[in-house]
Amino acid sequence: MKKEFPCMPSTFKEQWPGEFTGFAWQDFLTAIPSPLFVITSFKSNGKENGCLQSWSAFVGDTGEFICIIGAVSKKGHLYETLRDRRCCVLNFPSRDIYDRCVATVRNNAFEDDEITKSGLTSEMAVSVDAPRIRECFLNIECEYMWEREHFEGSRDVTVALRATHICMDVTRCDESKLGRYGKTGYMYNIHSPRSPETGEVLPDCFGALEKYT
Ligand SMILES: Cc1cc2nc3c(=O)[nH]c(=O)nc-3n(C[C@H](O)[C@H](O)[C@H](O)COP(=O)(O)O)c2cc1C
Repeated sequence: MKKEFPCMPSTFKEQWPGEFTGFAWQDFLTAIPSPLFVITSFKSNGKENGCLQSWSAFVGDTGEFICIIGAVSKKGHLYETLRDRRCCVLNFPSRDIYDRCVATVRNNAFEDDEITKSGLTSEMAVSVDAPRIRECFLNIECEYMWEREHFEGSRDVTVALRATHICMDVTRCDESKLGRYGKTGYMYNIHSPRSPETGEVLPDCFGALEKYT
């Protein structure tokens, strides 16, 4: 048996004022996981920027690898740096370095070198004018292509990037070694799943991808 959800279940309550405006109740009902990564770039003062990011997808088309970044806040540094420098790097962490990656959210002042201040190592990308995170097992260097508002006046935009270069740890290239999946591979963001029956809220958490055998 399935249940229809034409509108928000009455059991859903905001955990903080504005939660269902900042996000959407459907986000919490579906709680669709999405890959987690840090987008790095240079701010206009030359300092390193880091923006933890989720809600994104990756697609190949006619030989181009396109990264669709689903929610870039118009108010953040990332948006500004993409418009300014038109490039960035997508850095994929494994669980063991997540605490340092999330520290970029706190170390977010304009004057902060956000990668270095968070205990990570900044190195130059090889194909674009942006820093990348050495400790991340995969770095995708990208050029800005276009952006779209989700609807007129939306808070966030979707941004399309074209991959220009990829750097991956050798132990990840071979699935019989460390590989890309499981608890040491790609991290997925699971955004606070809720029960429509009881309204019970599960906290934000992360997941790993388990392959069917
Ligand atoms: C798990 C997690 C996922 C996040 N995903 C996004 C996202 O997809 N888009 C976004 O704009 N901010 C996201 N954020 C918030 C930003 O990482 C945070 O506000 C960041 O410091 C903004 O950086 P900026 O000023 O460089 O834009 C996320 C935060 C966390 C903890």
